[in-house]
Amino acid sequence: MKMTMTQKAIKIATTKIIGSSQRGTRGVDTTTTARSSSSMRGAIKGQQRWYDQRSSSSRKSSVSFKTRSASRRSPVVHATADDGYKVAVLGAAGGIGQSLSLLLKMNPMISDLALYDVGAIVKGVAVDLSHCNTASTVNGYCGNEELGQALKGCDLVIIPAGVPRKPGMTRDDLFSINAGIVRDLTQGVADHCPNAVVAIISNPVNSTVPIACEVMKKSGTFDKRKILGVTTLDIVRSDEFVSTLKGLDVNDVDVPVIGGHAGITILPLLSQTFPQTSFSKKETEDLTVRIQNAGTEVVEAKVGGGSATLSMAYAAARMGEAILRGLSGESDVYECSYVSSDIVPDMPYFATKCKFGKDGIEEVMPIGDITAYEQEWLDKLKPELKAQIDKGIAFVADAP
Ligand code: LMR
Repeated sequence: MKMTMTQKAIKIATTKIIGSSQRGTRGVDTTTTARSSSSMRGAIKGQQRWYDQRSSSSRKSSVSFKTRSASRRSPVVHATADDGYKVAVLGAAGGIGQSLSLLLKMNPMISDLALYDVGAIVKGVAVDLSHCNTASTVNGYCGNEELGQALKGCDLVIIPAGVPRKPGMTRDDLFSINAGIVRDLTQGVADHCPNAVVAIISNPVNSTVPIACEVMKKSGTFDKRKILGVTTLDIVRSDEFVSTLKGLDVNDVDVPVIGGHAGITILPLLSQTFPQTSFSKKETEDLTVRIQNAGTEVVEAKVGGGSATLSMAYAAARMGEAILRGLSGESDVYECSYVSSDIVPDMPYFATKCKFGKDGIEEVMPIGDITAYEQEWLDKLKPELKAQIDKGIAFVADAP
């Protein structure tokens, strides 16, 4: 017998609360509420109050670049087949795509995971993943003729599709192949799930996000709150490098990273590190350059075998989770991401801290106070980032 939404809500909220041992961990944060009707939310909120009374743990997120909010984590509530979100991974058979799909399969907010790729192995990846006993169902879709099915009804689409760098290449060197891939996949989104939030990993992100936005504009479905470039790995790396250098608890560290996602366009704001941390001039310079080159560090270490896959999947899963938490109505969800923005004059796209809400990117935060050293980098990065943005825009505008 089919349960009503209220019955389902009560069942979910009362039977699948996971304890505090899973809270406060970095990475795939499995603590959240499921999407549902208001009655369901009421039931979940009841559980949340119960949970909050017993919990002193707080979520890592910054309200401004100087301070962090201490919003409480919600209880873990598993989605049932028709309660949770539908999420598609486009490029699910690749190095990032497979790891990301696994992490998403562990996310209790997702009820339907659609794995799409042009490689036939994607169907096997879906079967493999479908044997994991978590709440979501998994389906594989192969080739352009199945793209629509994969996307239909999606709330979130994550795009890691494309080719990776080899040693000696810049992310911009991937433009000739990946630009067309992102254009075509975004057209699929415009055609089949124009209201979904789209998170783009495919490089060069500085250009592929403008490409995606232009495609949506051409289709009359552009909503700047719904498209973003995943720069989370820059924050993940910064938090890791800073906590290691300074002997801080990595769960506490939060370094905002602004600009773009390539070389010198990546600008960590070490002066805004939370908790407040002081760095010598040399530490600041070494860390800034290391964070800017961290992707290349991986490319070189893989000696021709590609670029970051595991850490990128981890970062993208964190971003995806933040988006879903925002969509579910949770407040105080912040992540840096590369978005259409007017925060920095003449820079139509820029990465900065964003607040996520029910419609996607709810607010793009200003960059705040920065040091003279950071200002120098900001001045340097602007022409490079602008050129990469213009290249993406022109790619769609000049198309026949
Ligand atoms: C990264 O930052 O690791 C990715 O953008 C992949 C790359 O090419 O560096």
